Amino acid sequence: MGLGLRLEKVTPDNVEAAIALKVRPDQERFVSSVVKSLAEAYAQPQPGTAWPRLVYDGDELVGFVMAFFDVRFDPDNPEDRPRSGLWRLNIAEGRQGRGYGTFAVRAVCEEIRRRGRSRLVTVTWEEGEGSPEPFYLSLGFRRTGETSGDQIVGELDLDV
Ligand SMILES: CC(C)(COP(=O)(O)OP(=O)(O)OC[C@H]1O[C@@H](n2cnc3c(N)ncnc32)[C@H](O)[C@@H]1OP(=O)(O)O)[C@@H](O)C(=O)NCCC(=O)NCCS
Repeated sequence: MGLGLRLEKVTPDNVEAAIALKVRPDQERFVSSVVKSLAEAYAQPQPGTAWPRLVYDGDELVGFVMAFFDVRFDPDNPEDRPRSGLWRLNIAEGRQGRGYGTFAVRAVCEEIRRRGRSRLVTVTWEEGEGSPEPFYLSLGFRRTGETSGDQIVGELDLDV
């Protein structure tokens, strides 16, 4: 892990590099492309719902993370509480296993804590060979027992 590890906003200067960022081909079924995530961020009716950020190590772009704040999985269900968490996490092919994913998750946790509304960090993942499930479990996320579509819902309590 380099010294200059940080998150940066997406800007006109770095957006092309951001879109060119790719996970391994066999991992593409677990995460949307950066371009799709940025389009979804732009299309949110409530500005500020999505928080897309680039992960840099020094001058090198190594990943993309997109958090969400206070969103319901099912907007029509009053029982479904608003949640915050991770919508997307893409660490570049060839740059995985170096702590960048962990850094991005911790940075999102920090942002959720800073905003002060929620102490819970939600993420969903797909099961299967190569699934990120072991990664999230190793960071302390626990399965809630819910699913969102065909995805497993995991949660991390920032107070524990
Ligand atoms: C999952 C992902 C974000 C992890 O990022 P990363 O930078 O490789 O993770 P880190 O280097 O911080 O790894 C932290 C730990 O998790 C482990 N880990 C990471 N990905 C793993 C996986 N797919 N399966 C099992 N363990 C994994 C690492 O070995 C490491 O363990 P260690 O601390 O014992 O060495 C990255 O592999 C990725 O982009 N995958 C493809 C897209 C994806 O699945 N995104 C998540 C969508 S919900």
